Amino acid sequence: MTPAAVIAGLGAWVPRRVVTNDMLAEELDTSDEWIRSRTGIVTRHVIEAGMATSDLAVEAGKRAIASACPLRPDALVLATVTPDHPCPATAPAVATRLGLDGIPAMDVAAVCSGFIYALAVGAGLIATEQATTVLVIGAEAYSTILDPQDRTTRPIFGDGAGAVVLRAGHRSEPGALLGMDLGSDGSGADLIQVMAGGSRQRGTGRPPGPGDHYFRMRGREVFQQAVFHMADTSCRVLKKVGWQPEDVDWLVAHQANVRIVHAVCAQMGIPAARAVVNLDRVGNTSAASIPLALADAVARGQLRADQRVLLTAFGGGLTWGAAALHWPQVHLTP
Ligand code: COA
Repeated sequence: MTPAAVIAGLGAWVPRRVVTNDMLAEELDTSDEWIRSRTGIVTRHVIEAGMATSDLAVEAGKRAIASACPLRPDALVLATVTPDHPCPATAPAVATRLGLDGIPAMDVAAVCSGFIYALAVGAGLIATEQATTVLVIGAEAYSTILDPQDRTTRPIFGDGAGAVVLRAGHRSEPGALLGMDLGSDGSGADLIQVMAGGSRQRGTGRPPGPGDHYFRMRGREVFQQAVFHMADTSCRVLKKVGWQPEDVDWLVAHQANVRIVHAVCAQMGIPAARAVVNLDRVGNTSAASIPLALADAVARGQLRADQRVLLTAFGGGLTWGAAALHWPQVHLTP
């Protein structure tokens, strides 16, 4: 029988430095009131100069491995769009620093949907018996790609990393990924974009156009697409696993904006009180968003073993995805 992928460990890490809305308002034409009321974000964590995504990934990975002890990963999938370098992938360096030399290690780039995509890749490695235990990390140093002068993006994003350990098991066990759905629409690629640094606009030795290395987003359109696709992909997963919206104990949606999370709840008929929210403290951490939200919900005693959990995300690409599972008993390592 095909082995199922079962969550067996969870870890999270955010850099120490906290940036408040008031701190941003000293540098940008914005205010605590605007950011809170339009996004729900109050603070975010930002790396110190000299740190990179792999540093965040290693911290979260270490904690997830400790949480899954004595299991030892034999594959690593890292979701990120802020890799340490355009080439090579960041995952092999993370594996080596975690003492996991020799295992297959790869990056997955699906922007804010990255963690769900990476979960699907990890589950695939287990289903095809390429691996028995997969470390799936979502890590982003978004502050490194934001335009410091752009008030429409800088308040929204934060840095951080979260990880789970997936192990081979049986569908009937708590923690088994019961159903997943993934999708994309490249016609919306220009809604969320970094223009330079890839093969379309590669380095010539001359400075790139102003801001071409910075992240750009058409916020209002992204908002509408995010609500539609997170609700839509979630409904497909519910159908696959035979759950009704009222069966969902916790909706763990990508932490983009509290208005987006609540709009997804409204569209699906899930009470807003059943949505995990930690974006007030960490902002939108892209691929790290879902595992950070899971760790926060476990630490606060909200998310408990055997509860029914629906994960959903939307991001640049455009990409989206969802997954359903019964939450397993996992222990967090500080
Ligand atoms: N402070 C003050 N004013 C701001 C501002 C800020 N930080 N950012 C934008 N504004 C202004 C705009 O310039 C605009 O002014 P105008 O009406 O004079 O043109 C006004 O506020 C409204 O802008 P709008 O973009 O329509 O606001 P919004 O309600 O859509 O909220 C976002 C903006 C970005 C918060 C919202 O669209 C959003 O969350 N989108 C999704 C973002 C996301 O999470 N993306 C990640 C991938 S999932």
